[in-house]
Amino acid sequence: MKIERLSSGVNVIDELLDGGVEHTVVTNFYGPPGSGKTNIGLLFTLSCLKQGNVVYIDTENGFSTERFFQIGGIKEDLKKILYENPGSFKEQAKVIQKVKKSNPKLIVVDSIVSLYRLEINKENFTEVNKELASQLAILSFIAKEKKIPVIITNQVYSVNSDEIELSGRDIVKYWSKCLVELKKVDDNKRLIILRKHRSLPEGRKAEFEITGSGIEKAKFRIF
Ligand SMILES: Nc1ncnc2c1ncn2[C@@H]1O[C@H](COP(=O)(O)OP(=O)(O)O)[C@@H](O)[C@H]1O
Ligand SMILES: [Mg+2]
Repeated sequence: MKIERLSSGVNVIDELLDGGVEHTVVTNFYGPPGSGKTNIGLLFTLSCLKQGNVVYIDTENGFSTERFFQIGGIKEDLKKILYENPGSFKEQAKVIQKVKKSNPKLIVVDSIVSLYRLEINKENFTEVNKELASQLAILSFIAKEKKIPVIITNQVYSVNSDEIELSGRDIVKYWSKCLVELKKVDDNKRLIILRKHRSLPEGRKAEFEITGSGIEKAKFRIF
């Protein structure tokens, strides 16, 4: 039986993922700032609202109602978004615990590691990494139990070979059944690459543009 998928409502992303993000697992969109992670989170949110509520955990104040309306959302939709805006990694943990009791059709965590990064240091890293793993375990459990997709985003930072951070990255990778990398090609163009998937070939890629009304397949231009 084919695993159910949630469409993004955008051809280029749905084609890459063979229909959308899978129910029952955690999908991770990662990339540098401006690569389109929040846009993708918003598009999946909008697409899912037809089916029910969405829990949107915004740790970077990246959720913009203005952008949401630009991509086709309406005021009524906002009532169906259970918006959470934790200010610390501890608050993020509480919010994720709370989600267990709700009944959403999608959970978005944008981003899973920004508050983790603020919290972690050389003294507490074992404990904080354990907490990160525990939050991801809960999200994976919810995805499986409630048969819904969970989307997390993960900012990628350029030069950082710190061992503490690397272990954090491994923890996130471990719990993500699907990994999708986003790259900024230039001001307009973005590259999306499938890096890990349970049933699709890795390395599959496409180019897209972030536009006024959402995301579109990149056009080939003659300069
Ligand atoms: N209305 C718009 N028209 C064109 N591009 C836009 C519009 N709104 C946002 N963007 C572009 O989206 C990008 C930010 O995408 P975002 O999803 O927030 O990235 P990330 O979450 O990965 O940091 C920026 O490059 C910005 O210029
Ligand atoms: Mg963002």
